[in-house]
Amino acid sequence: MSSQVPEEWKSEVSDILFDSETIQTRIRELGKQLSCDYRNRKPVLLGVLTGSFVFLADLIRNMTCDLEIRFMRAVSYEGTESTGTVTIEGLELLNIQSRDVLLVEDIVDTGLTLKWICEKLEKLQPKSLKICTFLSKKTKRRKTDVPQVDYVGFECEDQFVVGYGFDCDQRLRQLNFVGIYNTNK
Ligand code: XMP
Ligand code: MG
Repeated sequence: MSSQVPEEWKSEVSDILFDSETIQTRIRELGKQLSCDYRNRKPVLLGVLTGSFVFLADLIRNMTCDLEIRFMRAVSYEGTESTGTVTIEGLELLNIQSRDVLLVEDIVDTGLTLKWICEKLEKLQPKSLKICTFLSKKTKRRKTDVPQVDYVGFECEDQFVVGYGFDCDQRLRQLNFVGIYNTNK
């Protein structure tokens, strides 16, 4: 990719993975496809906080069908097991029974967060539940029994990414590009 990391972020971001223009072009395509697939269905777009908020904001501005927006929070706790535990906040307020739900995630890595969320959401009896993620990591750590992702912005290598909603200790979310975090800094 030809774009250069802006001077002010060079010590923390080693390279640009997807620049702003590439991201916006892909989101226009996704928005068009989703508008077509969800025409006359008034879907509930359910954003998983915090990482997905930038993607969701851009996505909905490229969608032309009627829709609603809700958010939930998935908090991962590091347990003694490598699988960890995920707690979900905000489920009781969702009210998605008999609705077409599109879960909007920032990134799928092992897929365990997604699996956990989908199991909880299915209990609320949505009419349909599909998954849209901005990034999907090509990782050997992806578990086999995780839900299939229906819409993917980009596939990426197994690197730690920052920007465009992705953080490192809650920072760097505001970058308008996705960068590779400089772990040697
Ligand atoms: P799993 O393994 O459950 O993990 O699919 C998904 C969650 O892990 C976080 N994650 C990242 N966050 N840069 C980030 O800022 C990354 O490269 C990254 N990889 C995984 C993210 O919260 C995601 O929902
Ligand atoms: Mg997440």
